[in-house]
Amino acid sequence: MRVRPATEADVEVVAASETANLGADAWSPGLVAEGLAGRLPTVHYLVAEGDDGVVGHAVASLAGDVAELQRIAVTATRRRSGVATALLDEVLALAATGGADRVLLEVREDNAGAFAFYAARGFVEVDRRRRYYRDGATAVVLRRSLGRGCGAAS
Ligand SMILES: CC(C)(COP(=O)(O)OP(=O)(O)OC[C@H]1O[C@@H](n2cnc3c(N)ncnc32)[C@H](O)[C@@H]1OP(=O)(O)O)[C@@H](O)C(=O)NCCC(=O)NCCS
Repeated sequence: MRVRPATEADVEVVAASETANLGADAWSPGLVAEGLAGRLPTVHYLVAEGDDGVVGHAVASLAGDVAELQRIAVTATRRRSGVATALLDEVLALAATGGADRVLLEVREDNAGAFAFYAARGFVEVDRRRRYYRDGATAVVLRRSLGRGCGAAS
C-alpha cells in the first residue's frame, strides 16, 4: 500500500469513498472534481492505493500556521490495518513542510471509531461546535501540535 497525491483521474474513486464512508456528510462528485482540478490551491487530496486499487483518501487544507484535516476515510473492509495512519502521516509531513505548527479537525461527537483513531494519534479536544452537521449533530474540534519542543504531542 502506498500514499500518493490524487489526480483528476481519481474523481470517481474518491467520490465513491466519500459516499461509502461518510454517508450524509459526503462531498458531491462535483466538489471532489473541483478540488482535484486544482482550483482550490490550498487543498491537497491524497489517496491510499493497494494492489487492488484505492482503499482510502484524505483531504487537507494547508495555509499558514494551521493545517486542517478535512477528510480521512478508509474502505470498511480495509480498516484497522494502518491505512488511515499512513494517510495521516503524509498529511502531517506535508503540513510540517508547509510551515504549519498544528493540525485541526472536526469530528462528529457520535463517531467513536474516529475518536479512537485520533486519540491514538495524539489529537486532543479543544472545542465543540453545536449544530455543525446537516442533521444537527455536534462537531468536536480536535488539535494536534506539530511542534517538537517541550510539551508537544507525540
Ligand atoms: C476512522 C478511520 C479513518 C480509521 O481508519 P483505519 O485505517 O481503520 O485506522 P488505522 O488502521 O490506521 O488505526 C490506527 C489506530 O487507531 C485506532 N483505531 C482506529 N479505528 C478504530 C476503531 N474503530 N475503534 C477503536 N480504535 C480504532 C487504533 O488504536 C488503531 O490501531 P490498532 O488497529 O493497532 O488497534 C476509519 O474507521 C473510517 O474510514 N471511518 C469512516 C469515516 C470516518 O469516520 N472518518 C473520520 C471522519 S472525521
